[in-house]
Amino acid sequence: MEAFASTAQVTAPPPAPPIPSAAPPPYTMKESVAEMDARLVICDPDAPPVSGAGVTGIFAPESPPSRQIRDLSYLVFGICIVIFVVVQGFLVVAIFRGIRARRVASRPDSEASAEPVQIYGSIPIEIAWTVIPSIIVFVLTMVTIRTLRDIDITTPPENSMEVVAIGHQWWWEFRYPGPDGEVITANEMHVPVGRPIWLRLESADVIHSFWVPRLAGKMDLIPGHTNYTWFSADRKGIFLGQCAEYCGTQHAHMLIRVYADEPAEFETWLDHQRKPAVVDASVDAGRRVFAEYACLNCHTIDGLSDGMFGPNLTHLASRDTIGSGFIPLDRDNLRAWIDDPNQLKPGCNMPSLKLDPPELDAVTDYLMTLH
Ligand code: CUA
Repeated sequence: MEAFASTAQVTAPPPAPPIPSAAPPPYTMKESVAEMDARLVICDPDAPPVSGAGVTGIFAPESPPSRQIRDLSYLVFGICIVIFVVVQGFLVVAIFRGIRARRVASRPDSEASAEPVQIYGSIPIEIAWTVIPSIIVFVLTMVTIRTLRDIDITTPPENSMEVVAIGHQWWWEFRYPGPDGEVITANEMHVPVGRPIWLRLESADVIHSFWVPRLAGKMDLIPGHTNYTWFSADRKGIFLGQCAEYCGTQHAHMLIRVYADEPAEFETWLDHQRKPAVVDASVDAGRRVFAEYACLNCHTIDGLSDGMFGPNLTHLASRDTIGSGFIPLDRDNLRAWIDDPNQLKPGCNMPSLKLDPPELDAVTDYLMTLH
């Protein structure tokens, strides 16, 4: 105690917390991604209501693997309900019979006992409660194996298209290998409706998990190990997903957007992504800011930089969102993001470069031209 007291005497008092200067108020987005999605769906008359953006969940499958997972879970749930009802039924019967036996035994002239009939070593009962659970376990095992055989395959499905998904803290990189060169994008994955997607899963840092509930089950992305999964979107729509393995501060904002397009739309999208970045002389000042600051160490813009640490920005403005699917992409949000990413996504690995307002405006305008 005395030692503590003397230490306390020599320790200087903690410095007073700095009085906050006139800091700008925290940036708030005009609308959330969920609100933006609701608006997009309302504006798109072709968007089927069930498959609308913002709707997610394992009970609304739109792809063969997720449908099989849903069907299996219904079967398991159904069997469990039957077991529950039967077991609870026996319990209730036993309770009421016990109460009645005790009441009968408590009458003054009764010779009955409250103790129920004691049964030891009844072969029929032993057989019943061994065989019935064994059959249940056997059935569940067989249907699970059948489901796994269909969804956890080791070779690509027929006519499939390979896409590579790489997990990063805290965003997704998508690569489309092809004979005409590789297309690299981030966070928003486009796929053609009806064609199986053979998804190769890798990680750049820690373990993540790819999960788009309406399309497929979860599959981990593990550093130094390649996993595969597959899905095939039944219809056009935006399917939302998220990282499903805790991977650090911004795990909850590591969102996935899968755009299932009609095959022709998808080809148009892919061709567009393959084009070099737009060069617009009116935003030269912004391009210079990008090239003179640290931006280019982390981001690729075809023809300008080849950083690999952050998302490829060659066609940034063709996306609906930034910050891995949780900030709608518009000029204000993008400017606020570049100004200080940690204000919108605390803990994220992109630093604030402390650009002054003219530089910030210039680089924002430049990036907004990258369609
Ligand atoms: Cu990536 Cu959680």
